[in-house]
Amino acid sequence: MSEPLLTVRDFSVVYDVEPPVEAVREVTLELRRGEILGLAGESGCGKTTLAYGLQRLLRAPAVITGGSVVFHDASGDDVDINALDVEQMRRFRWDKISMVFQGAMNALNPVTSIGAQLDDVFLVHRPDMGRRERRRACEHLLELVAVGKERMRSYPHELSGGMRQRVMIAMALALRPQLMVMDEPTTALDVLVQREILRQISQLRHEFGFSVIFITHDLPLLLEISDRIAVMRSGEIVELADARELWERPQHEYTRTLLSSFPRLTGERGVLVR
Ligand SMILES: Nc1ncnc2c1ncn2[C@@H]1O[C@H](COP(=O)(O)OP(=O)(O)OP(=O)(O)O)[C@@H](O)[C@H]1O
Ligand SMILES: [Mg+2]
Repeated sequence: MSEPLLTVRDFSVVYDVEPPVEAVREVTLELRRGEILGLAGESGCGKTTLAYGLQRLLRAPAVITGGSVVFHDASGDDVDINALDVEQMRRFRWDKISMVFQGAMNALNPVTSIGAQLDDVFLVHRPDMGRRERRRACEHLLELVAVGKERMRSYPHELSGGMRQRVMIAMALALRPQLMVMDEPTTALDVLVQREILRQISQLRHEFGFSVIFITHDLPLLLEISDRIAVMRSGEIVELADARELWERPQHEYTRTLLSSFPRLTGERGVLVR
């Protein structure tokens, strides 16, 4: 699992406002193929900006001021994401990298059925697929994320928040991307539903081999599901380590502060290290 999927070097983003905000500062990291990388850090530290920046999803006043992002495609090609034009990037984003946005479960179109919205992804990106083939693919996706194909005709308001979030995940998985970026995908859901969805994502990535960048404030949750965790503070990654290592031997003062702000967890920690 040490083969890299994404290599990020000295990546910086500034919001060009008065005064300018250095939201991401010379971030360097390597994402491995098939891993779940958790990105933790308090509100405003730059997690979303980094995640958007990697996929060139940022809009003005955001400016990428330096660094490089290279995607090591399964085909063997190394793709410099900063060098793609708008159209290439649009295709790349669905095919190779997909994103589940912060608050995504409210992003479904309320007047279109779940099935039709899934179908659209194939219609646009896989024009060679026939109608029946698309339908089978949509049904299969809904089964994969445990929504069930009988929901094809349902409208978003007929589904629970958890189900809607699963549909968004199904869309993100539709074209079998190599990387899925999830920004606070489950924070609006109750804890049990959240854990169930995450278990499923973890299973699916074993099945399909995609990598996940998973963003949340919820460090205990990250410790549970991530292979490695990057801790971000004021636009910088202050520590990146195996989840267990980070938990047992945090190197950076700030990581220790973050860990100790979860009392339940530190209680368990005493038991773990014994
Ligand atoms: N459009 C914008 N214009 C100016 N500054 C911005 C803009 N968007 C974000 N910022 C600033 O950039 C910094 C990083 O914001 P970002 O949204 O990436 O943080 P985050 O870690 O995702 O926070 P959260 O956990 O609350 O989602 C913050 O200081 C924020 O105020
Ligand atoms: Mg954010």
